[in-house]
Order: sequence, then C-alpha cells, then structure tokens
Amino acid sequence: MSSALFSPYKLAGLELANRIVVSPMCQYSGNDGCANDWHLMHLGMLANSGAGLVVVEATHVERHGRITHGCLGLYNDDNAAALERVIASCRLRGTARLGIQIAHAGRKASSQRPWEGGGPLKRGDDPWESMAASPIPFGDNWHTPRKVTEDDMACVQDAFCAAARRALNIGFDTIELHMAHGYLMHGFMSPISNKRTDQYGGSLDNRLRFPLSVARAVRVVVPKGVPLGARITGSDWREDGLTLDDAVAIAGALRNEGLDFICVSSGGVAAEIRNPTTPGYNVPIAERVRTEVGVPTRTVGLIIRPEQAEEIVARGQADLVSAARAFLDNPHWGWQAAKVLGAEVQRPPQYARAGPKLWAPAAAKL
Ligand SMILES: Cc1cc2nc3c(=O)[nH]c(=O)nc-3n(C[C@H](O)[C@H](O)[C@H](O)COP(=O)(O)O)c2cc1C
Repeated sequence: MSSALFSPYKLAGLELANRIVVSPMCQYSGNDGCANDWHLMHLGMLANSGAGLVVVEATHVERHGRITHGCLGLYNDDNAAALERVIASCRLRGTARLGIQIAHAGRKASSQRPWEGGGPLKRGDDPWESMAASPIPFGDNWHTPRKVTEDDMACVQDAFCAAARRALNIGFDTIELHMAHGYLMHGFMSPISNKRTDQYGGSLDNRLRFPLSVARAVRVVVPKGVPLGARITGSDWREDGLTLDDAVAIAGALRNEGLDFICVSSGGVAAEIRNPTTPGYNVPIAERVRTEVGVPTRTVGLIIRPEQAEEIVARGQADLVSAARAFLDNPHWGWQAAKVLGAEVQRPPQYARAGPKLWAPAAAKL
C-alpha cells in the first residue's frame, strides 16, 4: 500500500521526507526570549517524531512583541545563539527538517502564560504596553493597545527582516510568518480588530497593506529556494469577520508577494470567539485556498488520526498536514502513523531495533 501522507514533497527548494508537519507550539518557557534545555528536550523529541518538518513555536521579532514573558524571540544575538544550540542539536540527532514561525503578538502581547491564567499581565507582573491596528482590547478586562503608527510599522517590518536574517544564519530550512490567531498581522487583516480610517483600514486591500508590505520585505531577505510562507486565519468564525472568500483573497495576495506556501488555520481574533470542535475544521478552507489560488497549502486543526491525515492529502485537500496536540500526546505520532498506514519512516539508528523489526516477528507469532 503506498501512502500519500508518507510521499515526499518538495517545498520550493526544500525536500521533505513526508507530508507531516509538527505545528508551531509556544512553550512559554524561555528566558528573555532565549531558548534553553526545555526547548532542547521538546524540539529534540519532535525532531525524531517521524514528521518531515518541525516548525518552532511563534518566535517574536521584538521584545515587546512577545505574548508572555516566557515566549521565544529572535530580537537580539543572545536569542539567536541560544536557539542555534537547540537547532544544531536537532539537526545532528533528529530526522526532521526545521522551520520557524516569526511573529509579533500585537494586542495579545503582555499576557500571562496559560498555566498562570492566560489573561493580561497584572500590575506587579511587569506588564508592558501592547500595540495593535486599532486601540481595541482583545476582550473584557484586557489592556487597551496603543494604535500602531507608520513609524511603528517601519520598525516592526525591519524587526521581521532582522529576525528572518537571524533565522537563516542559525540554519533554519524554512520560515513562516505568523499572520493568524489575532496577533499583530491578523489584527490588521480582520475587520473585527481593525477600525482604522486611514490607508491601512476599511477595504480588504487597505487592511492587507501592512501585512503584505512585511511579506514583501521579508521575501527580499529570504533567498528564492528557501521556503517562505505564512500562517493565516481562514475564518474569524463570526459574521462580521474574515470569511472563506477573504481567506482565498489573502492567500492569493501573499502568493503574489512571492510566498511559497500558506498554512490555513483559523480563529483567535477576539477572546469570546470559539473555534469549531469538529475534526479537521480548517480542511474545507484549505481545500478552497489550494484549489482556487494554486499555492502549496498546509492545514491544521483537530487532525488526530493517521487515516484522517492520509485522506486529506490523498484527496488533494492540502499538500501538507500539521498536528499540534497529537504530538504532545504522542511525540512518536509520525512513527505510529507509518505503522497504521504501512509506510516507511526514518528513525534514528539508536532506535532501529524497534519498529518493523519488533512488530513483524511479534505479529507472526500471534
Ligand atoms: C501548546 C500550544 C501552543 C501553540 N502555539 C502556537 C504557536 O506558537 N503558533 C501558532 O501558530 N499556533 C500555535 N498553537 C496552535 C497550534 O499550532 C494548532 O494550530 C492548534 O492547536 C490546532 O491544532 P491541533 O488540533 O492539532 O492541536 C499552539 C497550540 C498549542 C496546543
């Protein structure tokens, strides 16, 4: 049986062994933006999960663009050196290619870690001023962000470029711009959070002006052949928010800026909005983006079973499939998927005595 999920894929100049991607997952465990032994363990494990690509968590381009005090950054050389140690180890010991998501948290900055409540930082917790397209809080009792000025836009754009340069210097194979989940870029795109009356607000073209400018600037930094993409919010899950049609238009506009792939996620624009809980809830959006824009497309969201992931790729609904929580639950999810789908997956030599060598004789004796 040949598996679509385990077929190789070429993303721009990057060869991936299969279509499985570990979704970026904040660990809220850094020290002033620097990765440490937690990240070495966490990413080291995931680099040997069977996924063709592991995307490192939202890594922030400015110190005040972090979500929490524990979030990673690439806003200075210390951050880069700390992450380089982790990435070098993953590359040496692991089987996956390595990507990074670069981000600015916008009005969701200055937050508590999830296990501290996930709300806005309180006085005494060293909060900082956040900024966003419009001075509208993320939710009830959240801080009011400062409205982004054109000078701020220039600084943020430069910071994205500087972070991309650092990411390339420390050896990442691919870079993803975080343009989803209510953070700064998506905050500009969504009519729920962007109420500006200047050239950065109003029509979708205007709301896209700043995010597209960032994409254009980062594309200049990232050489052709190194995949540069974006994660977008395919639906705000509210009538007055971004729709599936908008997702197609946004993906097309980003593709026209030279981006190589789009990851279709959704939600996150306001505290009270909930995502659907149906398996593969973003798959229909991804399918439309892939079909109508013709851009390499990844998707994510309650993709848990190997057969489900296989079907998404086999039916052409997405080129690549991401999972987040399934990998937290089982860091060898890719190995399990290979077993279920009868496919080959690369393992480190230290573990070669398990896998088919273990099951085949055991199964014969059953
Ligand atoms: C612990 C955790 C941290 C996350 N951090 C990020 C992140 O850094 N960037 C991002 O785009 N999404 C992040 N997400 C969202 C996931 O990447 C994914 O889109 C979401 O969990 C849905 O996929 P799943 O159903 O496979 O978990 C995070 C999710 C979890 C569970």
